[in-house]
Amino acid sequence: MDKKDLFKQQGYLILENFNSPEQCDALMKRGMELAEKYDYKGHASVFQTTEQTKTSDDYFLESGDKISFFFEKDAFDNSGQLKNSLFKSLNKIGHALHDLDPVFNEFSRSPQLKKLAKELGLDEYVIIQSMLILKHAKIGGIVDVHQDSSFLYTEPESCIGFWFALEDANTENGCLWAKPGGHSTSLRSWFRRKHGGGTEMHMMNDVPYSMEGMIPLEVKKGTCIVLHGLLPHYSLPNTSGKSRQAYAIHTIDSKADYPKQNWLQRNLSELKGFN
Ligand code: FE2
Repeated sequence: MDKKDLFKQQGYLILENFNSPEQCDALMKRGMELAEKYDYKGHASVFQTTEQTKTSDDYFLESGDKISFFFEKDAFDNSGQLKNSLFKSLNKIGHALHDLDPVFNEFSRSPQLKKLAKELGLDEYVIIQSMLILKHAKIGGIVDVHQDSSFLYTEPESCIGFWFALEDANTENGCLWAKPGGHSTSLRSWFRRKHGGGTEMHMMNDVPYSMEGMIPLEVKKGTCIVLHGLLPHYSLPNTSGKSRQAYAIHTIDSKADYPKQNWLQRNLSELKGFN
């Protein structure tokens, strides 16, 4: 079975040795450099994944075409001081790393990714979002079960994610969990801008996700996991002494309609694909 058929059947693909350890290390180093330059005083934005409490402040809503920094939920103590170093307090960096930073741009448009996109028939796809997910040792929190299409909604549905393990990911440090074939379901919700400001999780289908058959996607550093936008997936907190950094980009079909209510807004004519 070729990659395209397997992806259609399974809702995800696991491609080992997709990036070299050196490429992974270079991306993590660059992430740390960006974080060190971040002056966080005054714009602490927490990234919470519990849907209804997801931060909807302006910093988050304006991050679509920027390099922005999001803290772990419990990063600050009661007096407003960081409990750990700035870098260790961050949950993720996003959402336009792939367009604004040369190191991330190169990783996001590598020869092997161009080839993969071709094999999957994504000639008309554009990269709309990128995130460096830090998942620090003992700090990185849970990511509740969700479908990526809820956050990058298009008509028709088209979102495809590429999740790159920059370090080994296993059950101890909070790897992804998903169910083979789990994408054969409908979109449950649409995270969108509300009239008058803020965001809302608009429910489209209240049927709970079936968690039966979810398996841990334990992968080695350098692995690429391709994720269908409708595939429910999640990750548990990192309870181990090892971090679990990952880089993710999300792509959509440029021919699909991208509503103005979507939380992430970009100048759509500026979006580029894998080239
Ligand atoms: Fe996701």
